[in-house]
Amino acid sequence: MEVALILLAAGKGTRMQSDLPKVLHAVAHAPLLEHAMASGAALSPARTVVVAGHGADQVRAAAQAFDDEAQVVVQEEQLGTAHAVGQAREALAGFEGTAIVLYGDTPFVQTETLEKMCDALKSNDVVVLGFDAADPARYGRLVMQGDSLDRIVEYKDATDKERAITLCNSGVVACKSDLLFDLIDAVGNDNASEEYYLTDIIGIARDRGLKATAVTCDEVETMGVNSRADLAAADAAFQSRARAAMLEDGITLMAPDTVYFARDTYIGRDTVIEPNVVFGPGVTIESGATIRAFSHLEGCHVARGGIIGPYARLRPGAELSEDVRIGNFVEVKNAQIAEGAKVNHLSYIGDATIGAKANIGAGTITCNYDGVMKHHTHIGANAFIGSNTMLVAPVHIGDGAMTGSGSVITSDVEADALALARAPQVEKPGMARKLFEMLKAKQQRGS
Ligand code: UD1
Ligand code: MG
Repeated sequence: MEVALILLAAGKGTRMQSDLPKVLHAVAHAPLLEHAMASGAALSPARTVVVAGHGADQVRAAAQAFDDEAQVVVQEEQLGTAHAVGQAREALAGFEGTAIVLYGDTPFVQTETLEKMCDALKSNDVVVLGFDAADPARYGRLVMQGDSLDRIVEYKDATDKERAITLCNSGVVACKSDLLFDLIDAVGNDNASEEYYLTDIIGIARDRGLKATAVTCDEVETMGVNSRADLAAADAAFQSRARAAMLEDGITLMAPDTVYFARDTYIGRDTVIEPNVVFGPGVTIESGATIRAFSHLEGCHVARGGIIGPYARLRPGAELSEDVRIGNFVEVKNAQIAEGAKVNHLSYIGDATIGAKANIGAGTITCNYDGVMKHHTHIGANAFIGSNTMLVAPVHIGDGAMTGSGSVITSDVEADALALARAPQVEKPGMARKLFEMLKAKQQRGS
């Protein structure tokens, strides 16, 4: 059966105290909405519909940045979760499969859980995802009759007896798409909040003699974000899950609690991550690399055997081939560094290509920016760049060439040549001693 996703993301999120729509706040460097879309995306949905409201343009941009085929519909007024789902009706016209409703502010529902719901739908008409809440608070309560779900009652509308139920509604619903919209048509707003509750479709389905049930999951999966404190807690939950998964997959984390991952961090087995490393978005590390302490990486690729850091910074577009060595206080941006090249100390390499086995001396800088435009530096294979060389781009250093320490290189250097671009050394015998004497005499006269 084909699947379509409906993501509810119209809410303002007042408690976030923010100009940014709630679902665009980030956990592990990705918007909450992207996490929710990603858990559903693993089901290869035929269609994905995001119901936006507050900050709809920003929400549309984020949704389509993750999935350019996602449709975004706008719910002008937030009249309740059933009304929100109703906005997806046209976008799903003609769709014959299963619709799954997800919340954009609930990032951690696991794909396996959604698969379990799809399974349960084979013998039911509506399936709801429930969880046993440690503190059921104001969640909707699932009223079960044996294995059947009889109805869902919202906290505000519940009796004391119903409030004593700890099995709660996560909000995730699976139902055949056309039936879902049929049921929504029958939902009214005669309740404590005067809202159109999606949860009412269960009672309506049962009254029509249809079958409903609940699938349950761990409470961490249904964790929603309503405040900055929730956001921090969600990030912490993500990080502890990511660390455990990395360890499971054969990656050594010397101090797991100090390593910060992004949603899309990929690391190959037998890589060693030292303490206090931060991964921003878009990082791929192949097998057997070492990322030493206090390094910061984003948008980069480190091939097998690379040794990065300590205190290295890899920025977007850093492409490191096998066995590259990037040492302390080195920043690399938009640069391809070929096999076995070394940039070991205190350098900036930006908008550059570096050939295999080149050695870049301490303090070397590619001067890539002229104040208006960026320019490229090429360093050939086996080149030796002397310490503190300024490479004023655009500039091309041939294979096997050398630059003298302290050079400011403004023209191309041909292969195998030595380029020196610094003031020649002048030596004045005895002059240092004379200067000292002069200065000391001056000091004595002064005191
Ligand atoms: C809802 C459920 C409740 C469940 C809880 C789980 C209903 C009536 N209640 O309550 O049973 O325990 O979630 O967190 O469904 N939204 C829109 N448009 C609207 C209203 C809501 O897009 O008109 C979105 C919100 O942005 C949010 C989600 O739907 O992402 C849930 O809405 P919210 O108002 O948080 O519902 P709850 O009262 O928490
Ligand atoms: Mg809520």
